[in-house]
Amino acid sequence: MNYKKLGNTDIDVSTICLGTMTWGEQNTQEEGFEQMNYALEQGVNFWDTAELYAIPPKKNTYGKTEEVIGNWFQESQKRDKVILATKVSGPGLNWIRGGGNQYDGENLNKAVDESLKRLKTDYIDLYQLHWPERSSNFFGKLGYQHDDKENWNKFEDILYSLDQIIKSGKVRYIGLSNETAWGLSKFLEISKIKNLPRMLSVQNPYSLLNRTYEIGLAEISIREKSGLLAYSPLAFGYLTGKYRNKKLPENSRMKLFGEKFVRYKTENGQLAIEKYYEIAKKYRLDFAQMSLKFCEAQPFVTSVIIGATTMDQLKINIESVNVNLEESVIKDINEVQKIYPNPCP
Ligand SMILES: NC(=O)c1ccc[n+]([C@@H]2O[C@H](COP(=O)([O-])OP(=O)(O)OC[C@H]3O[C@@H](n4cnc5c(N)ncnc54)[C@H](OP(=O)(O)O)[C@@H]3O)[C@@H](O)[C@H]2O)c1
Repeated sequence: MNYKKLGNTDIDVSTICLGTMTWGEQNTQEEGFEQMNYALEQGVNFWDTAELYAIPPKKNTYGKTEEVIGNWFQESQKRDKVILATKVSGPGLNWIRGGGNQYDGENLNKAVDESLKRLKTDYIDLYQLHWPERSSNFFGKLGYQHDDKENWNKFEDILYSLDQIIKSGKVRYIGLSNETAWGLSKFLEISKIKNLPRMLSVQNPYSLLNRTYEIGLAEISIREKSGLLAYSPLAFGYLTGKYRNKKLPENSRMKLFGEKFVRYKTENGQLAIEKYYEIAKKYRLDFAQMSLKFCEAQPFVTSVIIGATTMDQLKINIESVNVNLEESVIKDINEVQKIYPNPCP
């Protein structure tokens, strides 16, 4: 396994992070336990979850994934072996504290306490804001439209509340998710001016089909030591080649929830996938491993959050750290990116 520092701390996190959002829906607790045991044995010490999970978000599976992890901590007694990241949900889901804004002191405190209970632990290593409260471009939205009436400016209040929670010992570090360059810069600026804790990471989508992070955020990540935790690095499985044929594989995410998850279904996305598939074939690489290693190799990436529904997938994905991508592979990949830039933002 490879390791990098989390933000400006001395903490070594594995460059493969164990994603968990299928546990409690597509995967059982037993399967989650098997994944956690195996991942830890392979040196994957960094795990990501959210109060919102399992996915797709539903009232009756809310908190289920954290419960699975908590049960594993209790049974294995290995809480101290893991750097655990979780997230407080943003607004919009009425079954989560009424669905309004979530990042005020009262809601943050409630959310942390409820997560700690489900996780059966007394601390969270990295606490992330799942998506911005203000209206902005995230979850694939382009064409920014500004609303002059929206006067959102709670950077300092949020950092102050999180500072109090850190001082209580319940959270060690904080991070962002689905954030923009403006949002990250602003949080970092206010932390500096007001001497408040800083955002150590940004959990955003990044894959061969979506390299938008490189445009504005990558530079900030490196200069400010607030690295990317790359989510959906296989574009929901598309970058394994499993959806190249018209017939959707049984039990796959697209077969089960394809109508809900349309982000990677674009026409140019499918054309780009064919090109990337050809590159993997040309260099005798496993397509999934090539796709993951491309993300892991980026200097602005702290860790690549993998997802797996079977042990075979998990093994292939973790093993991707040992794959070598020669310069010619990267060159070929970049040629495709020029033809189909970010077909699934
Ligand atoms: N912050 C956020 O808003 C956000 C959003 C999304 C994800 N995340 C985090 O990132 C993690 C990973 O995201 P993701 O699940 O979307 O990642 P992904 O790598 O894009 O997709 C993973 C899915 O692809 C399929 N797959 C994985 N490896 C495979 C292989 N070797 N061969 C064939 N199929 C394979 C599996 O689905 P099937 O078996 O069902 O086909 C698996 O669940 C999540 O668990 C979560 O922790 C965060």
